[in-house]
Amino acid sequence: MTWDFDTFKGSWSDMNQEMNIPSTLGKKLLESLTTVLGDRLPEGFKPAVQVAADLRFGDYQSNAAMVLAKRVGEKPRDLAQQVVAALKTEGMAEASIAGPGFINFKISPEFYAQRLMEMLADERLSVPKVSEAKTIVIDFSAPNVAKPMHVGHIRSTIIGDALSRIARFLGHTVITDNHIGDWGTQFGMILWGWKNLLNQEALNTNPIAELLRIYQVVNAKCNEQPELRETCKAELVKLQSGDDENLQIWKRCVEVSKSGLQKIYDRLDIRFDYWLGESFYNDALGPLVNSLLESGIAQESDGAVCVFEEEGREPSASSPFLVRDKDAWKPNPCIIRKADGGFLYATTDLATLDYRIKTWHADSIWYVVGAPQELHFRQIFDIQRRRGITGDFRHIAFGSILGDDRKPFKTRSGELISLEDVLNEAVERAKKTIDEKSPDMSADEKDRVSEIVGIGAVKFAELSQNRISDYIFNWDKMLSLQGDTAPYLQNSCVRIQSIFRKLGDNRSRGNANIVLEVPAEIHLAHMLSRYAEIVPMVLDDCKPNILAGYLYDLAKAFHSFYESCPVLKSEANVRSSRLALCQLTLDVLRHGLGLLGIQIPDRM
Ligand code: ARG
Repeated sequence: MTWDFDTFKGSWSDMNQEMNIPSTLGKKLLESLTTVLGDRLPEGFKPAVQVAADLRFGDYQSNAAMVLAKRVGEKPRDLAQQVVAALKTEGMAEASIAGPGFINFKISPEFYAQRLMEMLADERLSVPKVSEAKTIVIDFSAPNVAKPMHVGHIRSTIIGDALSRIARFLGHTVITDNHIGDWGTQFGMILWGWKNLLNQEALNTNPIAELLRIYQVVNAKCNEQPELRETCKAELVKLQSGDDENLQIWKRCVEVSKSGLQKIYDRLDIRFDYWLGESFYNDALGPLVNSLLESGIAQESDGAVCVFEEEGREPSASSPFLVRDKDAWKPNPCIIRKADGGFLYATTDLATLDYRIKTWHADSIWYVVGAPQELHFRQIFDIQRRRGITGDFRHIAFGSILGDDRKPFKTRSGELISLEDVLNEAVERAKKTIDEKSPDMSADEKDRVSEIVGIGAVKFAELSQNRISDYIFNWDKMLSLQGDTAPYLQNSCVRIQSIFRKLGDNRSRGNANIVLEVPAEIHLAHMLSRYAEIVPMVLDDCKPNILAGYLYDLAKAFHSFYESCPVLKSEANVRSSRLALCQLTLDVLRHGLGLLGIQIPDRM
């Protein structure tokens, strides 16, 4: 029998009421502050409540009394004392004062138990939807056709997908768009290579690899024979001016690349709503440049069209159009049309942004693109602002993936690593472990499980990093069954599943009465209940590592609980309460990993 945990689910209930503990405590603090301070409370003041730094003294903490004391002429501890005396948190939390005037809250076990029972019955695990849903376009992955996919695309693909899943779950309308580079200067070389070097059979078996091969061969040849570069350029010009043969070849290249990419995305369980690559905007570029010239935002300069620093703005380092050169500011324009009439990456991005606003009514556009493109996006966003096009535009930047030598991660033969190779190797390595650990598994299941574990490991290694920092790619670490890894989390789920498997059909979920007594149970309850706070937090700064780190802490809390609290061997009431804790841990881990795009095998 396979265990279908979803049959355990209570009916869908809309639990959008106040489910978030810090915000409930914040409201109660505000009431108390109003009672204590009356008119002296500054208008619009919102007391911040955070999870406590040291859980021994409480679960949550506020520095509100310290922040306000000076402004209202009180000593911080005195103010805290009055606030605590006026607080109405009976049944929910006990408040106390610590240090220079922190207010600490210890949540009562009964309150946690009640919350967990609500979570168990709620399909959303008590995570509320946002009160104001936005239309968010997420631009991620976006490799360049036939060019080597650099490691940056791996990060973009995995981070972008996780953010899309989380934003959608929180109730936003999310549009994912794969803005592939399908109209770059690389096509000059590819066209020539296609006509002179193409191996049709290789194209049929692995089109991306064959396109990459011809691109690399032509690129190398061009370095030796400069006149070939001119020939390739001529092919590009022919393509751009609508030559039929070249257009057909280009179309084929884009098609085969897309279908090759799609295979990788399928493996990663990633879908795009649109694939509007750069070429989609070709017709918009000329009129766009003209309108920028007409409005005076762009100017001709040495035959090219450029956008310079806005007139009248105080020169500063925050201007995307100035660079510091010794003691003076030097112009650092954004070129939108070259002197030869060609358009650029920036021109396309301006047109793309226009389209997303006009057609999709995007409130927000997120570009999940490596940190080296920071200046590019600052320029684009600033030009749009000057055109009166506003919105929440974010460059969600990330650092590099490094090898053990702290240099950009490369393959053994020194090439840039491709996403597909990374996945293959991860799955192969996962398979070795599974072969050793579970020799009795059928070959089919081994394949399935190693795919889930290997791909999960790559995704989690990525998502558990603060995206801004560089990180060292380490096979052994990411595939380890210990530490903050996907296999550790997946294995935790597998262990919980096996508890239920042992139970057979004898389980009661809906009517479990949760009672929390032992510290390890209470700590696990604290962690479980935090899920509703954590998920929305990810979008504040677009940092999936907040969720990844939380899931790891939750799994650790579960393991301490499981070590110190017998489940199946305890007497009926305790047993059903603890089983409910196991169930909810599994629910949260499964759901949270799902938001990161990571699956769980039945066994491993
Ligand atoms: N194709 C670009 C690259 O490989 C990334 C595109 C990102 N998206 C965008 N709208 N600029 O660097």
